[in-house]
Amino acid sequence: MLIALKSVHIIAIAIWAGGLVALPALLRRDDEMASRAAVVRLHHFSRFAYDALVSPAAVLAIATGTGLIFFVVADDWLFLKLVAVAGMVGVHMLIGRVLDQLESPDARPTRWKRAALVAGAVVTILAVLTLVLGRPSIPESWMPGWLLEGQGEELPLVSEGPSAGSSSSGRETPT
Ligand code: HEM
Repeated sequence: MLIALKSVHIIAIAIWAGGLVALPALLRRDDEMASRAAVVRLHHFSRFAYDALVSPAAVLAIATGTGLIFFVVADDWLFLKLVAVAGMVGVHMLIGRVLDQLESPDARPTRWKRAALVAGAVVTILAVLTLVLGRPSIPESWMPGWLLEGQGEELPLVSEGPSAGSSSSGRETPT
C-alpha cells in the first residue's frame, strides 16, 4: 500500500511540476504568433493541459501526500515542505489567472511575467524536493521559548522508556 501510494504521489508530482514549468511558455500573445488562429489553437491546448492534466495531477499529489502522512513518521521537514508546496499552489493559481486573462483578445502576458512564473515554479519545486530528500530539522533557535517549555504537565504523546526524552530528530523533548 505504501509503495503504491508513494508511486502515485511521485507520478502525480512529475506531471504537476512538469506542467508548472512548461505552461508559462505557452502563454503567448497575438503579436508573438503567426496568426490569430495559431494563438487560439495554442490557448485551447494550454487550457486543456491546465484543466485536464496539470490541475488533477496537483490534486492527486496533495491527496496522496496527505495519505502518506499516515504511513510514515513525519518530522520537521514535513511542515517546511508544506510551506514550499503552498508556494507551488500559488504559482499554479497565477498560471490559471493568466490563462483566464488570455480569454480576452487584448490580453498581453509579457515576457517578464512568463519568466517570473517559470522562476517561481522552479524555485518552489526545488525547495520541496530539497526538503523532502534532505529532511532538515528546524533549528531550536528559530522556536519561541514558550514552545520549548512544558506547562507543568506531561505531554500526552511522549512515550516512557529508554528513548523517552529525545525525539526522532535528536531534540530534547520538553516535559
Ligand atoms: C500537501 C502536499 C504533500 C504532502 C502532504 C506530502 C507528504 C509526503 C509524505 C508524508 C511522504 C512520505 C515520506 C517518507 O517516506 O518518509 C512524501 C514523499 C515524497 N514527496 Fe510529498 N507531499 C506533498 C507534496 C509533494 C510535492 C509537491 C512534491 C514535489 C515537488 C513531493 C515530493 C515527494 C517525494 C520526492 C517523496 C519521496 C521521498 C522519499 O521517499 O524519500 N511531495 N510526501
